[in-house]
Amino acid sequence: MTSHAFRASILHYHDDPRLQGESAREYFEDGLLLIENGRIAALGPYSDLIKTLDSQITVEDYSGHLIMPGFIDLHTHYPQTEMIAAYGRQLLEWLNTYTFPTERKFADKDYAKAIATFFVDELLRNGTTTAMVFGTVHKQSVDALFEVAQAQDMRLLAGKVMMDRNAPDFLTDTAQSAYEDSAELIERWHEKGRLHYAVTPRFAPTSTPEQLQKAGQLLQDYPGVYLQSHLAENRDELAWVAALFPNARDYLDAYEQFGMLGPKSIYAHGIHLSEHACQRLADSATVLAHCPTSNLFLGSGLFDMERMHAQGVRFAIGTDVGAGTSFSMFQTLGDAYKIQQLQSVSLAPDQSFYLATLGGARALSLETHLGNFLPGKEADFVVINLKSTPLMAFRTGTCQTLNEVLFVLSMLGDDRLIEATYILGSKAYQREN
Ligand code: GUN
Ligand code: ZN
Repeated sequence: MTSHAFRASILHYHDDPRLQGESAREYFEDGLLLIENGRIAALGPYSDLIKTLDSQITVEDYSGHLIMPGFIDLHTHYPQTEMIAAYGRQLLEWLNTYTFPTERKFADKDYAKAIATFFVDELLRNGTTTAMVFGTVHKQSVDALFEVAQAQDMRLLAGKVMMDRNAPDFLTDTAQSAYEDSAELIERWHEKGRLHYAVTPRFAPTSTPEQLQKAGQLLQDYPGVYLQSHLAENRDELAWVAALFPNARDYLDAYEQFGMLGPKSIYAHGIHLSEHACQRLADSATVLAHCPTSNLFLGSGLFDMERMHAQGVRFAIGTDVGAGTSFSMFQTLGDAYKIQQLQSVSLAPDQSFYLATLGGARALSLETHLGNFLPGKEADFVVINLKSTPLMAFRTGTCQTLNEVLFVLSMLGDDRLIEATYILGSKAYQREN
């Protein structure tokens, strides 16, 4: 058995702070995290726990740092890494101008592998240990990403884009080939180690009804696989879906008709939704991925968290790179705060970090594996350097409470805060000073 222990300030959530208040979190100013065989063995005050440890066990001393569970990114596109921050316009024009030409390159497996390697490195540099990721229409793009994630032993979800209309010829498949390619990838990768397959129709406008039917069929034929797509991001997109699916009562119905809702279905955005659509999301336990930096970048609109809470719609947080403008969960939470501010709601810091950890794990139905430091869970965690920059050192030095520190992290933080990232108790990233 291999055992490691880590001394630091340690924070995690047992539950949702919005419902349980401060009792939802556990914080040890001077804590010790004990890991055995890649899983959490114990957590407690350093002074108590150290007495119980075998003297053989080495203690990594991160005193002055903050350890948290690894961040969970509910929605991102690895092929768009190279076109992050591409200037101009809203969703549909941005897709045609930048996204489709870029995604074409992923027909080349070697190219895909190089970008997947950069992408996974960037996740780890930002303390993100689990992500739900779009590939491109090419099945080899997904092989490339899973190979890289597997080499890092990361828990990762991904899928091949299904797209059989309203896209350039070089990026389209057919209803049947999308089914076959997805099935092949599911058999090759789903539940292999820590990997999960997500059936990935890009969004309703780029799939025929026949292809959406195949997406629903895949969920039936392979119980337990996930589904990821986009929903109600942009007003022009809404009008387009209404024209393309004249028989659907609304955007959500274009998916619902084909059996694409459920607890393992994750839809990015969900900004422009009726009360009735929210109710059907809630009733089916379907999940939304709120992607704040993307929504601001593309001018898509303001996600209404209060309404989702009131109607019981499950959601957590995604970066949506490359419409999202950052890999950093801190920057993403900072923009989430500002989006709620514009609706006269103040997102509490505990709620933000819950959403980025246990909330994300719950949204992915992975909370038995991930999301906090309960014994037996997988030891994916980040070490945060509260003094990573002069401003950060100065500002956190003036904070009186943990809530203040967390809020400052979410407002001012970026990849420089991440001192190290651990996967299953092993160091996967160390910041170079
Ligand atoms: N809707 C369909 N495809 C995409 C995409 O690649 N990014 C975003 N933000 N929205 C989409
Ligand atoms: Zn997206």
